[in-house]
Amino acid sequence: MDLKKLMKRFFVAIVSLMLLGCNGDEVLANTPSGRTLVVYYSFTGNVRAIVNSLGGKIEADVVEIEPAEEGLDYAANNYAIGSSLIAAIRNNPNDADSYPAIKDVAADVESYDNIIVATPLWWSQMAAPMQTFLFHNGAKMKDKNIALIVSSASSPIAATVADAKRLIPEGNFLEPNLWIKSSQVGNASALIDQWLNQIQFPTIMNNDTLSVRAGGYTFTAILEDNAAAQAFNEMCPLTVNMSELNGNEKYYYLDQSLPTQPSNPGTINAGDIMLYGSSCIVVFYKTFSTSYSYTKIGHITDVTNLAKALGTGSVSVTFGGDDTAISNIKADEVKDGNYYSIDGRVVSDPKHGIFIHNGKKILIK
Ligand SMILES: Cc1cc2nc3c(=O)[nH]c(=O)nc-3n(C[C@H](O)[C@H](O)[C@H](O)COP(=O)(O)O)c2cc1C
Repeated sequence: MDLKKLMKRFFVAIVSLMLLGCNGDEVLANTPSGRTLVVYYSFTGNVRAIVNSLGGKIEADVVEIEPAEEGLDYAANNYAIGSSLIAAIRNNPNDADSYPAIKDVAADVESYDNIIVATPLWWSQMAAPMQTFLFHNGAKMKDKNIALIVSSASSPIAATVADAKRLIPEGNFLEPNLWIKSSQVGNASALIDQWLNQIQFPTIMNNDTLSVRAGGYTFTAILEDNAAAQAFNEMCPLTVNMSELNGNEKYYYLDQSLPTQPSNPGTINAGDIMLYGSSCIVVFYKTFSTSYSYTKIGHITDVTNLAKALGTGSVSVTFGGDDTAISNIKADEVKDGNYYSIDGRVVSDPKHGIFIHNGKKILIK
C-alpha cells in the first residue's frame, strides 16, 4: 500500500473515532431534562385529546396554535382549503407569504429545553398552521430536544417528519416519533406511555413509593395502583424476618390477608415485590420465568446491591417508615425548579430513578 493510501486510512480512522466520541456526548446531551413546551394544533380535536392525555403525564407548558382567520372549514369540499394551503407551502416553502397567518403565541420558545410538536397530517404534510408557527420559530429551536407527535387518518407520517426537520433544521430530534391514527385516539394514553418510555422522557409519577431497608441498604419501591398494594402500604412501617427460598426470593407470611388479584407475570424481575396467595409477601432478587401467579405489590427501582443486602439466609427487612419520608415531604413543598432525590438532596444532573421536581414525583427511566 502506498503512503497516500495509508495516510488516507489513518485519517478515516481518526475521523471515525472522533465521530464515535461526538455520538457518545450527544447521547448524554439528548437525555431530556429541564423545561418542556408542548405546542399543538388541532382542527377536529384528535390532537387536542392526545395533548390532554400527555399533559397529565409530563411537566410541561402547553400552547395551542390557532389560525388568524376563524371559522374556516379545511375539510369541506373534499378538503379544498386545507389542500390549497398545503399546495402553497409546497410550491414555495421559503417564502413567508406561503404560510397562513396564525394568532400570536404566548410562549418564549427560547426559554425551553424540550419542545414537543403535536400536529395533524394534511395531505401527507404537516398541517399548515403548525408549519406557520415552525417557519417563524424553528430557528430558535436550535439544539433543543424536539419530539414529534403526528395524527393522521391512515397516511404514513414520513413527509410530515420531513417538514419538521426542514422547519427546525438544527433541532435534536428524539426518536421515534409518535404516530397516532384517528382510530387510535381512544387508546392514546397507553401509546403515549410507551412512547415516553422509548424517548426516556421524565414522567410524573402518581404511584406511592415505599422504602425497603435490609442489610444496611435502603431501596425505593414504586407501589402498584391496586388494593393489595394500598393495604400493604397501610400496614407499614413493618419490620419482618424474611425466609430464603430457591436462591432468588425472600418470603414472609403476614398475619392478615390482603386483597388479591392474582395473575401469572411470565417473568419475575429482580426487585419485584409480590403477594403469593393472600398473605405471603415475597421480595425477589433474581430475574427468572415463573408458572406461578401473584398479585403485584410493587417494584424496587434500583436493584443494585439488592441481592447483597438480602444475603443468602433469612434477613430482617423493614418496609416504609424511615427518615426519607420526612425529607420527601420537605422536597414536596419546594417548587424552585431543582430536581431533588427522594431523601431531599438537590440533584444537578438527574438521570435514572425517582426525583421530586416542583412538588411532583418524577420518574426518569
Ligand atoms: C385538510 C385535511 C387533510 C387531511 N389529509 C389527510 C391525509 O392525507 N391522510 C390522512 O391519513 N389523513 C388526513 N387528514 C385527517 C387528519 O390527519 C386526521 O383526522 C387527524 O387525526 C386530525 O387531527 P385533528 O382532529 O387534531 O385535527 C386530513 C384532514 C384534514 C382536515
